[in-house]
Amino acid sequence: MDTIYNKYKDGKMEKIDLNGKKILVTGHAGFIGSNLVHRLFHDMKEGTIVGIDNLNDYYDPMLKIYRLDEIDNYKPSGINYKSIKGSIADKGLIDKIFAEYKFDIVVNLAAQAGVRYSIENPDVYIESNIIGLYNILEACRLKEERLVKFKELLAIAELYKRKNQYQ
Ligand SMILES: NC(=O)c1ccc[n+]([C@@H]2O[C@H](COP(=O)([O-])OP(=O)(O)OC[C@H]3O[C@@H](n4cnc5c(N)ncnc54)[C@H](O)[C@@H]3O)[C@@H](O)[C@H]2O)c1
Repeated sequence: MDTIYNKYKDGKMEKIDLNGKKILVTGHAGFIGSNLVHRLFHDMKEGTIVGIDNLNDYYDPMLKIYRLDEIDNYKPSGINYKSIKGSIADKGLIDKIFAEYKFDIVVNLAAQAGVRYSIENPDVYIESNIIGLYNILEACRLKEERLVKFKELLAIAELYKRKNQYQ
């Protein structure tokens, strides 16, 4: 079982031991976020994973609920997992979660995608991709958490292997 992810920092490889870490995954009901949580379940022996997602209806929320059910079903006994329904644009909520969990690692995947949709619904983009991102960055800055971009943590291509690995 591999608990170490390598990531580049200042041109050098840095090792991160995920075991025992407190990790926030925003957008954990989404495509990448839900796969990331499964991957963390697989790779960590112990630790805390908190997910936050507003389950918006940009596409069928039933798919997101199904993913969250799948996550519940796969949760290993050594992992403390908490799923929160809420928006990263809610600064009070984000500050409360950060104060409670004091995360070691934050992976921000909650976002509004879709170029065409942005023309009809610009408010949603401002809320999630600007205000929400700002709230996460600011909470990280104040609490000095390590912010990991999803691309640094695992490549999208790896996500497609999950079906074979975990099912
Ligand atoms: N899927 C890809 O191939 C791909 C490629 C490149 C980049 N990305 C980026 O990765 C990120 C995640 O992509 P995805 O494919 O998992 O998208 P997704 O839409 O499946 O997941 C995003 C999740 O974030 C949630 N969300 C949106 N706004 C929120 C808010 N304000 N508060 C809380 N939750 C909120 C949504 O409900 C959704 O479950 C996005 O930034 C996307 O642009 C994705």
